[in-house]
Amino acid sequence: MIGYHACPPPRLLNGSNRSVEETGESMAQTPQVQEEKLFIHNLVKRDPLAGLAEDVRRGLTTQPKRFLPKYFYDELGSQLFEAICLLPEYYLTRAENEILQRYADEIVSTVAGPTTLIEMGSGSASKTRLLIEALLRKQAELLFMPVDISATALENSSRILLQSYPRLNIEAYAADYFAALAELANEQRTHTLALFLGSNISNFDVDEALKFLRALRLVLNEGDALLLGADLKKDKAVLEAAYNDALGVTAAFNLNVLARINRELGGNFDLRAFAHRAVYNEEAGRVEIYIESCCEQTVSIRKLDLQVQFGEGEQIHTENSYKYDLEDIGKLAAQTGFTRAQTWQDQKQQFSSNLLLAV
Ligand code: AVI
Repeated sequence: MIGYHACPPPRLLNGSNRSVEETGESMAQTPQVQEEKLFIHNLVKRDPLAGLAEDVRRGLTTQPKRFLPKYFYDELGSQLFEAICLLPEYYLTRAENEILQRYADEIVSTVAGPTTLIEMGSGSASKTRLLIEALLRKQAELLFMPVDISATALENSSRILLQSYPRLNIEAYAADYFAALAELANEQRTHTLALFLGSNISNFDVDEALKFLRALRLVLNEGDALLLGADLKKDKAVLEAAYNDALGVTAAFNLNVLARINRELGGNFDLRAFAHRAVYNEEAGRVEIYIESCCEQTVSIRKLDLQVQFGEGEQIHTENSYKYDLEDIGKLAAQTGFTRAQTWQDQKQQFSSNLLLAV
């Protein structure tokens, strides 16, 4: 049995310790772990469709139409994202892995004394292992505090980590980033290294990135650090290939939002009548991702009692992926109570891992 702390109302746990998550994800068998090693605070909203329904209605009745990128990550979308990370064109994951493989010991040595590790958006936590191992070389025990919107992903990855590392304890937050940060800011901790990997910062607009980093800064004390993974500005062709892979996995990831609306809200989107588009807007420094209607058409969404007209070529904006240079990162840090103390890059200099010190 794991500790499971729910902000009211409680999440469902069945006899086999499985949580039933807001997306209705099913859970694969995961290893049994000692009860006192894992504690999950579940702050995820109880009504699973409320946020999606409201946001889809708003997004499809405004001009230009838009969806929020967080809705990519239902069970299928999360698996498609894992597949994206393996694509030859999607260099980001490999580049960050290369950096962490090479520099994990150096990175963790930047925080003095026994260190707690917090990770925002931990997902499968596969790259985190490199930092966990480096910290366990430095100290006898480690408290790992992962935060992820998916209770299922958290519980799965936590159990797997606990099986691998007997000297690890996990206190996890299944929560929206800001809800988790508000809770974490009220806690006393040892020195802390926070992680925001995978260039997840890319999917925030500038204001959101500032708001997020300021909220994270409130969780840290002076001298604590944040390791921020950020994809770098580069050649347009390389960037566009990364978001238009030949296998069509990114297209499937993008169009899965329509499939999700069909499944969860009773929509009748014909996925073959929409196309994936990704273009690098050099001036704005971001890859812009859209779903484009291939013809004039009307779509209905039963649970919203909504009919939506699409013109031929009309687009729904689904995501921005911002690209940075080191100066941009320094500025972000300076505006949010950090200083960029050190940056590590992969050999091809495609990606950056930035140590931001809380000042
Ligand atoms: C999660 N995030 C950093 C990815 C990115 O590269 O912006 C999401 C993604 N969208 C399409 N491909 C990958």
